[in-house]
Amino acid sequence: METGMIIGAGFMGAGIAQVCIQSGYRVILTDTKKEMLEKAKADMAVSLEKLHQKGGIKESAEPVLDRLEIAQSIEAGFKSKRKISWVIEAVYEDEDLKKTILADVEQQIEDETLMATNTSSIPVSRLASALKHPERFVGLHFFGPVPLMELVEVVKGEMTSEKAFQQGMGFVKKLGKYPVGVTKDIPGFVMNRIFAAAFRECQELVGKGVATPEDIDAGMRLGYGWHIGPFRIADNAGLDTVLRIKKSMEASGEIHLYSNAGIIEEKVENGHLGRKSGKGFYSY
Ligand SMILES: NC(=O)c1ccc[n+]([C@@H]2O[C@H](COP(=O)([O-])OP(=O)(O)OC[C@H]3O[C@@H](n4cnc5c(N)ncnc54)[C@H](O)[C@@H]3O)[C@@H](O)[C@H]2O)c1
Repeated sequence: METGMIIGAGFMGAGIAQVCIQSGYRVILTDTKKEMLEKAKADMAVSLEKLHQKGGIKESAEPVLDRLEIAQSIEAGFKSKRKISWVIEAVYEDEDLKKTILADVEQQIEDETLMATNTSSIPVSRLASALKHPERFVGLHFFGPVPLMELVEVVKGEMTSEKAFQQGMGFVKKLGKYPVGVTKDIPGFVMNRIFAAAFRECQELVGKGVATPEDIDAGMRLGYGWHIGPFRIADNAGLDTVLRIKKSMEASGEIHLYSNAGIIEEKVENGHLGRKSGKGFYSY
């Protein structure tokens, strides 16, 4: 059974871990916060049981969860002595933090281990500059909630080898997801640029008092066939994460994709982070 390591047990890391153990991989999930690891495991147990009862997976929650190990540091994760075939980094959208972690991980893995990042917006090539072997590093941009969303962008950095890119594409297919190849490594890749452009105008319209978030969401669902509206998507993603992505895109010079209406900033300042905190544009 192949083992992988996922770093960061938040909304995305926990979701990626779940689909990996569902697909038969063994996963070592690491986070510096014990409560995040415990929450991830508890949420997975509930989600897996529901999926099993609905016929979405054959196995019950218990044997699937047996394939998950949690560790409160990367070092502790590597102590499991299992051969790690791949590592996916899913910590905060912070370039320096990600680079530090990736450089640290690289020193502890074998030559053939595939390295990946779940960054939403930072070019893979920029993160790869922290690595001695950038050729085995690829972007695997999952969409959240990961157990429900079929799309994964597979991003080829300037130095990513064709082999690593194809490994990433194959890995995504093994998880039962649809890989969209992104072969030019630009900030925000494809889908987040498109979403950001639409969401920018949504925030401007709310900021100018033209319409409410609820009505814009209803409009995008009923008028354009979006499954859920953009403000609901932002709430699900976490408004703190949305803000970090905005800052990262601004630092990359992509200011045209982001609104300065201040709506997200205000929510985050008040501790309204979306679904994760019980309140954002909606209450949960
Ligand atoms: N939220 C989304 O919808 C979404 C979608 C696609 C990609 N992403 C990207 O995925 C990444 C994670 O986003 P998220 O929404 O899961 O964020 P999150 O805030 O839910 O989780 C981040 C986790 O990283 C952990 N962490 C921080 N420093 C760490 C360290 N040194 N070692 C181990 N763990 C550490 C935190 O404790 C936290 O649990 C970001 O790069 C984000 O841009 C997010």
